Amino acid sequence: MKEKIESIRRAIGEGMLQVHDRKQLFELKMQFLGKTGEISALSKGMRDIPPEQRPEAGKLVGEIRTWAEEQFAAREEQLKTEELSARYASERVDVTMPARFAGTGSVHPVSLVRQELIDIFAGMGFDIYEGPEIEQDYYNFQALNIPADHPARDMQDTFFIGGEYLLRSQTSSGQIRVMENKKPPIKVLSPGRVYRSDSDATHSPMFHQMEGLVVDRGITLNDLKGCLDEFARRMFDEGTKTRLRPSYFPFTEPSVEVDLSCCNCGGKGCRVCKGTGWIEVLGAGVVNRRVLENCGIDPDEYTGFAFGMGLERIAMIKYGITDIRLLFEGDVRFLRQFKG
Ligand code: DAH
Repeated sequence: MKEKIESIRRAIGEGMLQVHDRKQLFELKMQFLGKTGEISALSKGMRDIPPEQRPEAGKLVGEIRTWAEEQFAAREEQLKTEELSARYASERVDVTMPARFAGTGSVHPVSLVRQELIDIFAGMGFDIYEGPEIEQDYYNFQALNIPADHPARDMQDTFFIGGEYLLRSQTSSGQIRVMENKKPPIKVLSPGRVYRSDSDATHSPMFHQMEGLVVDRGITLNDLKGCLDEFARRMFDEGTKTRLRPSYFPFTEPSVEVDLSCCNCGGKGCRVCKGTGWIEVLGAGVVNRRVLENCGIDPDEYTGFAFGMGLERIAMIKYGITDIRLLFEGDVRFLRQFKG
């Protein structure tokens, strides 16, 4: 028995020298202390030992077991410490190293246009109002003089949500919300997303509009023209002219369609303006008296003008973009061109 124990002790000592990680240590431990290990076999072999020698043998087996357990525990601790310091060394961060350059994004062309428009109109004294995208039929249509059965509803292929709710098809709804809450003088700009069931190279189911509204005593179509002249010169270039053409919107009377002299050819006629020298950019007009009345404003005392434009359209004209979908694909090769 004694010899057997000595040989186990030696074997463990030698085995320990070959152990370099915790997995190997565990395997060695099982070889001696596992259920079928050599030390466990000694315990099981007790019944073959004569009864009078059993206490002595039992004591020896107990000792070697305790000793072996201590050896393994100590080595385990040692390995743990070694592994940890190896990990610390490999994960060491040099805080003095220069940072890796991750690249910066660029402002989206629609955001550029939006900001530029806000700057231009804020310079003329306009406030900003942003209304809800989920809108009531009343604000999007009825209060704008478009009752439920009005054919003008066909001009905008609207996403109805249910009940009286819809995704606003125009930022003109903002006019009503502003006039309901504020008495003239009013000078507000209402930018935001609008939605229409429409999709091709020049239409997107979600796009952005910017609405403008001015209401005060003595406002005329001339004021609209002056305001849009200023916008055209600042947004495009000094020589840009505006042209008003008669049109129809239920919420304005008279209504106009506004063209700008082509910023590409200066009005001579080119591919961008399809040879006409003019590009249509927005709808506008003198606010219909019914709309003022709907908001509790006396149309005999106050008049106003309003206009609405699509931001994607402005961006496409300004940057020469021919397909609106480029603005929504998020292709960085396209977006990077608007950097700086
Ligand atoms: N809401 C119109 C549209 O989406 C644009 C518009 C036209 C807005 C005339 C106006 C306006 O404020 O007076 O087509």
